[in-house]
Amino acid sequence: MKQTDQEIFATDKASYVPVFNRYKIVLDHGEGVYVWDNNGKKYIDFLGGIAVNVLGHAYKPLVDAVAEQAGKLIHCSNLYYTQAQADAAAKLVKLSGLGKAFFGNSGAEANEGAIKIARKYAHAIDPEKSQIITAWNSFHGRTLATLTATGQPHYQEGVGPLPAGFDYVHYNDIEELESLMSDKTAAVMLETIQGEGGVYTPENDYLKKVRALCDKHHALLIFDEIQAGIGRSGKFFAYEKYGVKPDIVTLAKGLAGGVPIGAFIVTDEVAAAFKPGDHGTTFGGNPLACAAANVVLDTVPQAEFLHNVETVGSYFKDKLAALKDKYPTLIKEVRGTGLILGAELTSAEHGRDIVNDCLEKGAIINCTVGKVLRFIPPLIITQEQVDEVVAVLDDVLRKYA
Ligand SMILES: Cc1ncc(COP(=O)(O)O)c(C=O)c1O
Repeated sequence: MKQTDQEIFATDKASYVPVFNRYKIVLDHGEGVYVWDNNGKKYIDFLGGIAVNVLGHAYKPLVDAVAEQAGKLIHCSNLYYTQAQADAAAKLVKLSGLGKAFFGNSGAEANEGAIKIARKYAHAIDPEKSQIITAWNSFHGRTLATLTATGQPHYQEGVGPLPAGFDYVHYNDIEELESLMSDKTAAVMLETIQGEGGVYTPENDYLKKVRALCDKHHALLIFDEIQAGIGRSGKFFAYEKYGVKPDIVTLAKGLAGGVPIGAFIVTDEVAAAFKPGDHGTTFGGNPLACAAANVVLDTVPQAEFLHNVETVGSYFKDKLAALKDKYPTLIKEVRGTGLILGAELTSAEHGRDIVNDCLEKGAIINCTVGKVLRFIPPLIITQEQVDEVVAVLDDVLRKYA
């Protein structure tokens, strides 16, 4: 029997580890850019499961591929080959121009694997070459190594000792990075575009200069594209936009359109650092997840699809800039590219209230770091749908201006 919201909230309170600061709605189903709650209320979804539902909800080819694969073989372990996995890996290798892919189940697991293979590669050069440099304000995941990589100390409190060998620099500050790097640096790991930290894009050829420093010190360059990749920037990989190629790139979130998956993709030279038995996973890259990934990998890289991300993204950014001009006491800056956009509020006072008010009016948006309204919607949105959300935002912001 269908339960009421109150019953579900009570069961959750009694049964679920209380780590999520959830909004008080129970979602039931979705279609395209819209979702419906338990009571039949419709919402336009401009968060997309936190940059996951790139093809929207209930996208028929994805649903069909998952259903067909589930009816044949959901899982078989990595002791055997499957066509779905081989195909998905080959597509990622071709798209990235790198050498080999490996599948896990989440973003954190993808980054964990990337850090591990980078260390293994570096240790073969010099056993003391182990420093991993990441950026303040970054987000790389919740496992012990990835939350150590995450340059936001509050995530690291109370769970030490943390893995050793991590140092931090300010994103976009090339001099600071230069002063910290040496031949003991194993890797520099950066989000190509910082997402959770508040939507920051690289400035002034920063990533090209990072690449040059990595080459100088024979350190690997790892781009975490878990949030910014899979077409979100308007290119399949955000690094294509900045003319820089990493040695390792990590993906997750949108890679299988909502089915759990993560991946790291490496050059052949780096891949050779792992021998059979050096790494593994039970579920990672199982045929169900890879069947879903294959739909995403056949759809998102198409020129027309990416073109829509570019054009709708810049339309949306212009609309957000107009809201900034209209509400200068509320919005300080509009940032981002493609469909990873942020509007920084002048203070954290109303961040969560604005999100709640938008929800009330039927629009799902997000606020990160307390004061950056973040928009990472399905990549299939139209200009009309942007107008719909901007109208809601306008209405809500007026209340706080
Ligand atoms: C850039 C980035 N890296 C890693 C992660 C961690 O991914 P997951 O939550 O799938 O472990 C996230 C999640 O928000 C992310 O945005």
